[in-house]
This record gives sequence, C-alpha cells and structure tokens, in this order.
Amino acid sequence: MGNLRNGDKMSQQKPTISRARLLSRLEELGAIGRHPQGGLRRLAANDADREARDLLVSWMKQLHLDVRVDRIGNIFGIRKGTTHGPAVMTGSHIDTVFDGGLYDGALGVLAGLELVETLNDGAIETSRPIAIAAFTNEEGVRFQPDMMGSLVTAGGMPLEDALNTRDNEGKILGDELKRISYAGDMECGSIVPHAFVELHIEQGPVLERDGMSIGAVNALQGISWTEVKFHGQANHAGTTPMSLRRDAGYSAAMLTCRVREIAREIGNGQVATVGKLQLDPGDINVVPGSATMTVDLRNADNDLLEQAESKLQTAIDEIASAENVKAECRKLARFPPVQFEANIVERIEEEARNFGFSFKRMTSGAGHDAQMMARICPSAMIFVPSRDGISHNPAEHTDQDHLENGANVLLRTIIGLANS
Ligand code: HGY
Ligand code: MN
Ligand code: MN
Repeated sequence: MGNLRNGDKMSQQKPTISRARLLSRLEELGAIGRHPQGGLRRLAANDADREARDLLVSWMKQLHLDVRVDRIGNIFGIRKGTTHGPAVMTGSHIDTVFDGGLYDGALGVLAGLELVETLNDGAIETSRPIAIAAFTNEEGVRFQPDMMGSLVTAGGMPLEDALNTRDNEGKILGDELKRISYAGDMECGSIVPHAFVELHIEQGPVLERDGMSIGAVNALQGISWTEVKFHGQANHAGTTPMSLRRDAGYSAAMLTCRVREIAREIGNGQVATVGKLQLDPGDINVVPGSATMTVDLRNADNDLLEQAESKLQTAIDEIASAENVKAECRKLARFPPVQFEANIVERIEEEARNFGFSFKRMTSGAGHDAQMMARICPSAMIFVPSRDGISHNPAEHTDQDHLENGANVLLRTIIGLANS
C-alpha cells in the first residue's frame, strides 16, 4: 500500500470508481435468484440468498477484506485503516422481495465493494477502517419485520426473537441461517461504526420528476405493518341467506377500501397499502371462513402515522362488529420516522456539487438499513433516480450514468468521513 496517510494528501487524490466493474458485479449478482417470470427472488435465507452471499464473500476475500458474519447472518467486510478507530461503514442488503429488481439493496453493497477496489487499485489508505455491510432480511418478505438484521444490530430487536421468527411455512429463521451456513459467531452490534452511509435507488418518482441526479436523504418516514385476520364462518355460497353470513372475505374487502380512505383523510403524504390478502378456504362456492391481510401505513410525521393507525383499528372493530366476525391483529413492524445526520447530508451535497451533479435534499419513502443504523451512529443516505419511479418490480431500472454517479459520490463521501 502507498503512503497516502493523511487527509491532506488524499484531498489531492480524486479517485473515481470503475463503471464497468460495478455494472459487471451488478449483472453477476443479478443473475442469482432469477425466476422464470424474470424477477429476482432472493428471499432471506433461501437457497438463492445463500448463493448470493457466497459470491459476495468471495468478492470480499478477493479484495483482502477481513470478513465477519454475525449471529443474525449480517456479513461485514472490513478494510484496515492506518488507525484502529471505529470504522466508517457503508452497505445495504442483497435479499429481495418476491419479484424484485436488480438494484434494490444490491447497488449499495456492490458500490461499497467498488469503492474498496478503487482504493486498493490506487494504493490509497484511509485513517479509519472502512466496513462494507450486507444486512440480513432487509425486505421482511419471508420473516418480519423488515430491516431485521440492522434492527438487531442497533439493539432494536432481541437476537433470539429475530432468530425465532417463522415464515408462512413455519420454517424458523435461525434454522434457515444454519442451513445456509450463515449463522455466524460474531456478536450482533459488536461493530459500532463511526458513521454509516447507504447508497440506494430512490424507488420513487421524485428525482426523475425533478431532473435531479443525486438525492441527499436527510429523513426517512415512519413505518407501521399490521397483519389482520378476520374469522367468520365458512358456509355454502348457495344456501346461506345474506343476512346470516359471517363473511370474512367481505370484511377484508371492506377494510381494503377503508385503508385507501384513511390515506385520503390523513393526507400530508400518508400512504397505505394492503399488500397481502388471502381468503380461506378459497373455493368458488364457499363463503370465506377466514381472511388474512396485511396493512402497510407510512408517514414522515409520527403523530399523523399514529392517527392513521388509530383510524385503522376503529375500522377493523366496526367492520368486525357489523359482519359478526372476530378480528385478530398482529403488529409486524413499527418504526418511527428518522432524521439523518445533517453534516453527513452536507458532505453528500458537497461531493455531488464537486462532481457537478444536480442534487436535492429529500425524505425516503422506503425503509432502509440506514433507518436502523441511525440509532447507533451518525447516518445518511444517497439516492439515485429510479426510471418511472418503479421498484419492487422486475421493471426496476436506473441508468448507468446514475449508478456510476451515485457510486462516485459514495466513494468521496466515505473517503472524507474515513479521514475526518
Ligand atoms: O419496506 C420497505 O420500505 C423496504 O423495502 N424493506
Ligand atoms: Mn432496499
Ligand atoms: Mn426493497
């Protein structure tokens, strides 16, 4: 390694990432877990997730990173600094939703690898160590809640509770991590970073609509996930008079419409989604005896989010009483809105300005690992535009220039923090 040991000399160096190498890794990782309809299905701790983890670890080792895996399966690759202080960390996740795209999470992890390789190529040392993280189960699709690996890291969920979560086939996360050989031995939370910066696609329409290249993310909205089960009475579709029905399916349909009305009534950026809805027994000629659904509520204002939750509970109670069904609710996730670290946001803006990239300050609509890391260290995020604002969909796309720009702003931001 060269002897560029302090920030001053570093500031004369203006390294930039290798676009080709970043794109090549995104493609290679993006080939893992692809299902016949074309989307990615790397659900937490499934076989595709293992394959992706193995590839990531092999890349980390090629880059001479010290690889650690903790007890919830988070993977960390650590690059030595010239001092032994707390590391500057970047990263994200490589698990996907059920039908995901190439860039959600993967960009943040692979841009981290790319910045390490750029530093290695230039024999550029940093004062602080640099750590690249891939957090377990960020999506929360198979095991809830989402952002689980970073939540445990931040002390927001007991490790045992997380390891004991079950998927809808009854499989236990702890067993699944053992099965894919990623039940690590490092204690969770034993790496407390000096700072955490996450590069991520915006997954929304704002940057593209405003013609901006970079989002300097200074806040992230609150998230509330609830599972609602209506228990009515399965009965014959032909013989059961309407007045005698206890129709769980009708109850779920009523609540789905009410959820949309709640978002409209609250306004102020409130969003509300019924993402899962299952009727049982699910036969054409049987009045549904039970219905299981999920409600995702989000708002950047915690008071408004609480109002939305209260309206939801009232709606559930009213619908259950009117249809004479029983309602059972389970809170799957509840995270308050987060303000990120102003001086890191300013650094991100400064680096975007240095490159001549257009940028804007913004709030994240999606949840991210940075939301959890902000509980234990100064954190912020960098966004790059999503074409047509689409994400959590195989059509998810970000132009190559934007991918490269985001990775370069991340590189310079991390160097600055690692030498501050
Ligand atoms: O739900 C979210 O916002 C994140 O993608 N897990
Ligand atoms: Mn993500
Ligand atoms: Mn996602």
